[in-house]
Amino acid sequence: MTNNKPLVLMTHELPEDWVGELLDDYQVITGFNEKRGLDSRLIKHLDKAEGILCLLDDPIPAEALERAPDLKVISSMAVGVDNIDVAACTRLGIPVGHTPGVLTEGTADLTVALLLAVCRRLPTASEDARQGRWKNWDPTGWLGMDLNNSTVGIVGLGKIGTAVGERLASFGAQIIFNNRSPQPEKEKKLNATQVELDELLRTSDFICLHAPLTEETANLINEQAFQKMKSSAILINAARGAIVDTQALTRALKEGWIWAAGLDVTDPEPLPPNHPLYKLDNCLITPHIGSATFQIRQTMANIAIENLSAGIKGIRLPYCANPEIYT
Ligand code: DGY
Repeated sequence: MTNNKPLVLMTHELPEDWVGELLDDYQVITGFNEKRGLDSRLIKHLDKAEGILCLLDDPIPAEALERAPDLKVISSMAVGVDNIDVAACTRLGIPVGHTPGVLTEGTADLTVALLLAVCRRLPTASEDARQGRWKNWDPTGWLGMDLNNSTVGIVGLGKIGTAVGERLASFGAQIIFNNRSPQPEKEKKLNATQVELDELLRTSDFICLHAPLTEETANLINEQAFQKMKSSAILINAARGAIVDTQALTRALKEGWIWAAGLDVTDPEPLPPNHPLYKLDNCLITPHIGSATFQIRQTMANIAIENLSAGIKGIRLPYCANPEIYT
């Protein structure tokens, strides 16, 4: 390396006005945009890297960390850090930066947008109008499901789950939720009831997933879970694709175990264009756009840079996913 600025590996090119400071203060090597993770262009510089700036679909395994003796920080432009071996980072004393809070409201908005689009069958209705299948006002055409007076089951009542609960309560839905720990204040605020997962699956009209992806939640919504749901149930996933068993979901939608699904995340991600889920008109899929507003993405980038700079300077990250390294 020819200059003395700290070396930062950036897995994906980001707009210059988002990462200006980074380009000035550090020596930055960027990966191949189309290949996610630490690709060959980045791997060969791991031994000198002081920082990694990554996205949520860049796997950062323990083996990569072990090849980076000078690494002081990993900063992800995301709130979820399931792509990073955080336990290995903690063991090696490497702080992991993330971007909590800033995408709460935007992701909650997108969740509600997906839910409404699915329950009122907007994609089908719009396509039918466009294709000339709108002949008359049809009393039995394009019927959907009521949100008012429905029961919405939220799995994971964290920040985003709560923001979704607030929005849906104002549509007249009754909120129930399943969460690892009791949430008495949120329960009161949402006039909600905490229930076992089994009860949530059996009684909800809408099931919204907002849990993080962990060993405990991977494949949580599997074949047995779908069989417990009402045949009129709608599943919304704007959390992480791998919380749902994709094969079981495809079967549940095809065979009418549930009524419909709205997915902003899938497993695998991206879902290949020939996947059977795209052929089902009771499944609406968007390409992980929960946080996709100009304002949110710019703020996420700013926070990611703040975390990165703090880590390289050896000061506490403002938003750290493994704060236990500081104790
Ligand atoms: C995150 O940051 O983890 C979100 O999934 C992005 O939308």
